[in-house]
Amino acid sequence: MSGALPTELDQALNAATRAPSPHNTQPWSFGVDGDRVTLWLDRERVLTVADPEARQARLSCGAALFNLRLSLRSNGCEPAVRLVPDPARPDLLAEVHVEGQRRSTLDERKLAQSIFHRHTNRRPFLDRAVPPGVRSALNAAALGEGGRLEHLEPSGRYDAVAALARRAEFLQAGDDSFREESARWTGRPPGSVDGVPLTSAAPPAGQAGALPQRASHTNPALPPRSFEQQPLLVAVLSGGQGALADLHGGMVMQAVLLTATSLGLATSFLSQPFETPETRSAIEQLFRDAGQVHTLLRVGYGYPTPLTARRPVASASVGDS
Ligand SMILES: Cc1cc2nc3c(=O)[nH]c(=O)nc-3n(C[C@H](O)[C@H](O)[C@H](O)COP(=O)(O)O)c2cc1C
Repeated sequence: MSGALPTELDQALNAATRAPSPHNTQPWSFGVDGDRVTLWLDRERVLTVADPEARQARLSCGAALFNLRLSLRSNGCEPAVRLVPDPARPDLLAEVHVEGQRRSTLDERKLAQSIFHRHTNRRPFLDRAVPPGVRSALNAAALGEGGRLEHLEPSGRYDAVAALARRAEFLQAGDDSFREESARWTGRPPGSVDGVPLTSAAPPAGQAGALPQRASHTNPALPPRSFEQQPLLVAVLSGGQGALADLHGGMVMQAVLLTATSLGLATSFLSQPFETPETRSAIEQLFRDAGQVHTLLRVGYGYPTPLTARRPVASASVGDS
């Protein structure tokens, strides 16, 4: 049975493109055929230096898929989602089609609204602890999507993760190809349809905290500010490895990010350790008893910052679905 009206699909595709992606590269494209949508990895938009195996890009596609599915559900459609492990077409990631109608829940509608408010906040967070009940809600969001969240300080991995992030930032500062790639995608004028605008950059840190500042996302022209000395860090984990696990990890990540947004939390990413070969293998080793570590998120309370723009859905469409 065909259920989706074009408006619901349009809304769902629009919601999908609100997913986060490294440097706002938006490494996805969509094929639409009636009420069937295919999700593809767009190789042209993968960061070849920072993300040579396209793992962060596939996480982003997983987040886009989560938004697409949530938007359809919240609009009363029943989507069937198939993650596609097809070695013959490795860039085809998922197929979604609308099987029928359903009644949306209040929670789904509330979470779906967060799609359009969630954003990366690189500014200092307030000196306000995240209460245990809120932390549990984030854990539940990850579990609900078949993944897991680890709050780093009780796990004892915090210092090691912070050291790897500092090491990676140091290696990246001395790597011309890394710096050139970052420079191509950051410092964009406001309203750019991809890349990170200067208005989303962080102010320089007044004094060094446990985590390094990402040079490519800092605006040295701003007055320095004090950041949290030891921000709350969570690791997004899931089972399995490979392309399918990356896509799934992205869905878990987005479930956590949207839940955080709906609970009034601000979030940002700590990805440097995943972006140099030395620190990437070290971080995987560090979490080997916990599962596949996909990403690290800084979580807290902050004042909202501007949203970044996206390419129009039409420019992320593929003809052949
Ligand atoms: C897998 C992944 C890794 C990211 N890593 C970083 C990072 O290390 N530092 C950072 O400031 N932002 C990081 N981001 C956030 C993106 O830059 C951000 O999602 C993008 O610019 C779009 O902005 P928005 O999240 O505000 O919508 C990452 C996003 C994803 C999905």
